[in-house]
Amino acid sequence: MIKAFYHFMNALGYHHPVHPTEVHMPIGLVVGAFIFAIVAIIFRRIKLEATPRYCMLLAFIWVFPTMALGFMDWQYFYAGAWITPIKVKLVVAPILIVLLALGIILGKKYGAASVRLLPIYFLCLCAVTVLGYYGGQLTFGGRTIEGPRQYLAGQRIYAVSCTACHPNGGNALMPDKPVARSPLLASPQMFEFWLRHPAAPMPAFADKTLPPDKVQALYDYITSVLGK
Ligand code: HEC
Repeated sequence: MIKAFYHFMNALGYHHPVHPTEVHMPIGLVVGAFIFAIVAIIFRRIKLEATPRYCMLLAFIWVFPTMALGFMDWQYFYAGAWITPIKVKLVVAPILIVLLALGIILGKKYGAASVRLLPIYFLCLCAVTVLGYYGGQLTFGGRTIEGPRQYLAGQRIYAVSCTACHPNGGNALMPDKPVARSPLLASPQMFEFWLRHPAAPMPAFADKTLPPDKVQALYDYITSVLGK
């Protein structure tokens, strides 16, 4: 099912994870709820009183498809690997749902722009910040080993596509199969063949996602910087 979805997206010319395209909705709406509530309270704008509630409602609705797509990306691009950012996100996302529901319910009781609701809006803001931070950690990796500038292209590809499972050139899922100094790095051809046809749970990287020039840049970075 999940694979069929991504194959369909690939056919349309879309090769990236889909969750990052949806996260802006709940994040933006949570920020909106917080700002509108503050403005309504400080400047006594009666007209804005209901706005935080509508923001929370929309955020609550949008959070479910966003989570579902995040789960699918996790299965497809990270092979469901139990890496730290995923664990954090799986804990914080349900907390956000509870907070949003609480905000909506209490907003009905006390009025959405009541001072009593500010802590809830603020906690929602904290939750989306944590979720966003670890999303960034997953996509861009906070644990990239830097090398000389000439390897920057490969380093960037590694940070986006490999770091999550291979932090610091290791292997988060199978520690005895690290990337750095892997026998599969014996030649660029061997390395490329592995990327196209790896052993599960490592996902395959097709020509479209990683064209040969990028594979070469990746190879140079891994052998010259990580393999030292
Ligand atoms: C979803 C997690 C995941 C991602 C993402 C991932 N890998 Fe892997 N990789 C693995 C696992 C698990 C293995 C061990 C597979 C096996 O041998 O059974 C592995 C093995 C390898 C090996 C062989 C190690 C050895 O000597 O056995 C290399 C080389 C490698 N990966 C490179 C990469 C590169 C380069 C990227 C990024 C383009 C990448 N991997 C992305 C999980 C991943």
